[in-house]
Amino acid sequence: MKKTIILLPGDGIGPEVTQAAKAILRECAHEFHHEFELQELPIGGAAIDATGSPLPKETLDVCGKADAVFLGAVGGAKWDALPVGKRPESGLLDLRKGLGLYVNVRPVKLLEPLKKISPLKPERLGDLDIEIVRELAGGMYFGERGNSTEKGVERAWDTEAYSTPEIERITTFAYGRAENRSRRLCSVDKANVLTSSQLWRRTVTALNTVYPSVKLDHMYVDNAAMQLTLQPSQFDVMLTTNMFGDILSDAAAALVGSIGLAPSASFGTTAPLFEPIHGSAPSLAGKDAANPVGSILSTTMMLRDAFGLSLEADWVEQSLVRVLSGGCRTPDIAEPGTRTVGTSVFLETLHEEMQRTLEHAERYGWGV
Ligand code: NAD
Ligand code: IPM
Ligand code: MN
Repeated sequence: MKKTIILLPGDGIGPEVTQAAKAILRECAHEFHHEFELQELPIGGAAIDATGSPLPKETLDVCGKADAVFLGAVGGAKWDALPVGKRPESGLLDLRKGLGLYVNVRPVKLLEPLKKISPLKPERLGDLDIEIVRELAGGMYFGERGNSTEKGVERAWDTEAYSTPEIERITTFAYGRAENRSRRLCSVDKANVLTSSQLWRRTVTALNTVYPSVKLDHMYVDNAAMQLTLQPSQFDVMLTTNMFGDILSDAAAALVGSIGLAPSASFGTTAPLFEPIHGSAPSLAGKDAANPVGSILSTTMMLRDAFGLSLEADWVEQSLVRVLSGGCRTPDIAEPGTRTVGTSVFLETLHEEMQRTLEHAERYGWGV
């Protein structure tokens, strides 16, 4: 298989976790005889420093023509004083918009060896396996915004707005996901207060007739945040807006022990984008302490969901679970009796385990 993959390391721990994606893609290409052409381009603060723009035209153009894009993280104190629109984060939003990405899938799945690091008791946690389907191209992130000063009083506003077609396309995707999982879909909104949420709820409900086998529930976002913390295993596929999805996915990631574990995949009209859901974690940057698992699982989502390379993805994931079972942990997921290591030793250990898995599979077959 021949693929062009663009790597956008970004800022803070972004470059460190992008190294993980790069190493896995290279090893996968080597062992399975694929041709992956990897190209690195600037985005975010790094791009502001190099070119003056958080999303240089070349970065967007090249990403648009690629088979898949991987992004580390953007943002940092150095650029915090910049206005909305010029910040590193705007580079990421413009990339999502520019690539036509309106679907963001954020799986939150308990990794068996990490059961004990969850802040929830095992009986509450259950076999946590949720998929948050976040609308990615609309809502308050892209609505009308502005500020004014009248009689010395400053005002600023951002608008939450959705159209029926915008809701329909993300909802159709979410129903499809639910059909292939447990056939349960929970749509999260704030329809008791927001007009945009009322349209959201009506549209999601209307589409249920096209997917009658899916059991649809609605939940207000405040309750959803509480239910996620109280009894997360009641959820399977959660469908929600751009803003609510951003917030709920960080909360859900905490349930499995660390935001450093959570991957994501975004789809739309051009190249798909894969990124861990965490940010640039400025306090960890350059310390070889970032958890690369979210980045690794974003890469396996790329392999499986963008390229259809399930065997390759399984290989990486099975090896990863063994590394975690063996007690090799970055500081955020350390627990008594485990060995705390830095990002680079973690990746080296994973590489060794991947080689062992491969030798075993070559001798006895896969899945034995
Ligand atoms: P953050 O996700 O960077 O950090 C939140 C907390 O999680 C911190 O305690 C951090 O140390 C920890 N953490 C994050 N990733 C980790 C990892 N891989 N391993 C171990 N621990 C990890 O969020 P924040 O502090 O709110 O934001 C920091 C910067 O990142 C801001 O500039 C923000 O705008 C940006 N941001 C970028 C993205 C992105 O690029 N996708 C996402 C979120 C935030
Ligand atoms: C995320 C991030 C981004 C978002 C920011 C950095 C623009 O928080 O991917 O979760 O809000 O979508
Ligand atoms: Mn976020």
